[in-house]
Amino acid sequence: MTLQGKVALVTGGSRGIGREIALTLARAGAAVAVNYHNNKAAAGEVLGKIENAGGKGLVVQADITVFGECEKMVKAILDHFGRIDILVNNAGIRRDTILALMQEKDWDIVIDTNLKGMFNCCKAILRPLLKQKSGGRIINISSIAGLMGNSGQTNYAAAKGGVIAFTKSLAKELGKRAITVNAIAPGFIETEMTESLPETVKNDLLPHISLGRYGKPQEVAEAVLFLAQGAGYITGSVLSIDGGLSL
Ligand SMILES: NC(=O)c1ccc[n+]([C@@H]2O[C@H](COP(=O)([O-])OP(=O)(O)OC[C@H]3O[C@@H](n4cnc5c(N)ncnc54)[C@H](OP(=O)(O)O)[C@@H]3O)[C@@H](O)[C@H]2O)c1
Repeated sequence: MTLQGKVALVTGGSRGIGREIALTLARAGAAVAVNYHNNKAAAGEVLGKIENAGGKGLVVQADITVFGECEKMVKAILDHFGRIDILVNNAGIRRDTILALMQEKDWDIVIDTNLKGMFNCCKAILRPLLKQKSGGRIINISSIAGLMGNSGQTNYAAAKGGVIAFTKSLAKELGKRAITVNAIAPGFIETEMTESLPETVKNDLLPHISLGRYGKPQEVAEAVLFLAQGAGYITGSVLSIDGGLSL
């Protein structure tokens, strides 16, 4: 129970990787605010699992693309738990298509969710985090696409590359306050986000994964736990969780 007494916010905690992160941090003793956008039932189910296991949680609805909603979400967490220690910027979407066919709205929504959403949440927790004067952890979920690029994902890769540059810059700003800021770059992880990819894309990818299989949400959650519960001298880093896909 290494995170006993700590409070974590996991954006997009209702499904996929975020769901596993929320459950893993709760198992380690953190009180977890489970953010969702549309899927109230799924977020409620995550909270139910946390509480049934004897943990503490809270469901917080917010569209992370809207700064005012992020501010309200953080206020709700502070009103309920009295503090916030860990922020996991996990919520994300993709709208894949080659640039020649990409519409402006596909660009805007992907940048607004994956990149601006992270800015909004970091900005919203920053004052309370600094006021607490007890350090903290910010963990941003990037992607292998942000490191290597990917055809059909100029919008997504630009956002996820931006997440990495943001992470390094904020790590420099907050280091003296004992707040670490790190990024995780998952490869292909089995969630609803990847389920809809064409079989041909999946089959083309598999031979390039050294471990010969796709990743599981739990395997990303384990890395988040590592960065959240200790790892006090790691900041501004990007941890690849991709089974060797980027080698
Ligand atoms: N799966 C992969 O292979 C993979 C690889 C690299 C990186 N990633 C990154 O890992 C993160 C999680 O991906 P995933 O595969 O778990 O995705 P997912 O299964 O599609 O889940 C996405 C989550 O994000 C939330 N969300 C989306 N838009 C939001 C908004 N505007 N405000 C608040 N929440 C919002 C969703 O909430 P609702 O349930 O309410 O819709 C949901 O909880 C993303 O940042 C993704 O880019 C995934």
